[in-house]
Amino acid sequence: MKNNQDAAPLFNALVNYGLKSGATPFDVPGHKFGKAIPQAFKDAVGENIFKLDVNSMKELDSLSNPIGVIAEAEQLAAELFGAENAFFLVNGSTSGVQQMILSVCGDHDKLIMPRNAHKSTYNALVLSGAHPVYLEPHNDDESGVSMGVTLQSVKQALDMHPDAKALFLLHPTYFGYTQSLKAIIDLAHRRNVPVLVDQSHGSHFSLHEAFPPSAMALGADMATISMHKTGGSLTQSSILLHQGTRIKKSYVRSTINVFQTSSASYLLLASLDIARRQLALEGQERFTTLLDQVNAVRSRIAALPGLEVLGTERLNGDSAFRFDPTKITVDVSAYGVSGFKAYDYFKANHNVQLELGESHVVLAVAAIGDDEEAFERLYQACKGFTNDFTLNHKTTPRKIGVHMPEMVYTPRNAFFLPSALVKLEQSEGLISADSIMVYPPGVPLVVPGERVTARTIQDYRFLEQEGNVLIGAHQRDDGIYINVLASA
Ligand SMILES: Cc1ncc(COP(=O)(O)O)c(C=O)c1O
Repeated sequence: MKNNQDAAPLFNALVNYGLKSGATPFDVPGHKFGKAIPQAFKDAVGENIFKLDVNSMKELDSLSNPIGVIAEAEQLAAELFGAENAFFLVNGSTSGVQQMILSVCGDHDKLIMPRNAHKSTYNALVLSGAHPVYLEPHNDDESGVSMGVTLQSVKQALDMHPDAKALFLLHPTYFGYTQSLKAIIDLAHRRNVPVLVDQSHGSHFSLHEAFPPSAMALGADMATISMHKTGGSLTQSSILLHQGTRIKKSYVRSTINVFQTSSASYLLLASLDIARRQLALEGQERFTTLLDQVNAVRSRIAALPGLEVLGTERLNGDSAFRFDPTKITVDVSAYGVSGFKAYDYFKANHNVQLELGESHVVLAVAAIGDDEEAFERLYQACKGFTNDFTLNHKTTPRKIGVHMPEMVYTPRNAFFLPSALVKLEQSEGLISADSIMVYPPGVPLVVPGERVTARTIQDYRFLEQEGNVLIGAHQRDDGIYINVLASA
């Protein structure tokens, strides 16, 4: 454990102010320590939370320009996560991704990135005007799950686009795989290209040697971690990490302030501080226990007939270099049923809420809050699934994979051009003005500026039939419409 990690300066300052100081608040928020909060809300969550829902003032520092307890808490987080600088975020890694990209790319600047990135990345392209150079991720043929990118594909992209402003990567993918990030970062840095990493699904990586090394440890210039996903803090709270001199710290701060609310929630900020403390003091031990439980349940599920649990056997030294076992991906396709339907089955029949379904797999995310009982329930739900469905190796569902339609306009150009709604079936060959996706995982089938293909429409229809609600399309009485460029 590093120095002072048992301190929680921001959390303690908030508790002192909200619960102990007796201050009379003539500032906002107007509910004034909860006095104007409806009783039904208080009955559901208690009273204290509202006394901690306060605004920034001198003793609680300011997220826009931290010089007091927020600065101290951020410094402790930077130390724990192996960065030079940490910036607390209250709009998730969505804002982290956008701030990383806007810290480096302006209009027309080239950004090399995988096409299985999260929607926040495409929105950052709209905001910045950056021109994406897409890398096709490696696809696991059997499960249809997309992995990382190959070193060779990055090299080719850097060779073809020596003017690229940055390289953006996922570490890990939603399913816990990482590409050979160290080799890729070294390659990019030899060409003086900064590397930005979306580590939203790996905030726990620095805390145990059984996890893949963190992006900071491997030399990335910036990384965003969704502490709320696997680090134990409240939903929406994330941390942006930064090191080195390729990207200026002062510029990152300015970029954050362009987007960030001027009324950041102290509940979220304090939850980051106290979660960081917990990870520092107990992370090693808790993750050792978690890993034992995870490995046990993975083996038990894999021993059930017809279920495959994706793991280290997929590693190939390149696009699948390291693996995080807390992502429990179960291939259910031998039962002739899609992961989408299996996802619904787990909830409806066993009250087990999975993270997501894909065409062949379901994903259970294990994290610091899980215990033996939860893993037993997961196992029993898998067992129930094998009893309730019939093993059928003949009919496997369609795989979606990652489609890379032709990019006619950059996402930003397309986003601001005039557009019109057309029926989905009539959109083939036209240029999309919107991103369309299932959420989660939030990887768009098509993004603004891409040409809609027959496959886009088929994928859409398949996803819909499988019970998914797609974001970005418009349901009308006479069918599904999508937004396309009016001039297309
Ligand atoms: C790969 C990836 N990046 C970024 C995000 C955005 O993270 P957040 O929900 O913290 O805004 C997500 C969210 O699911 C994600 O899956």
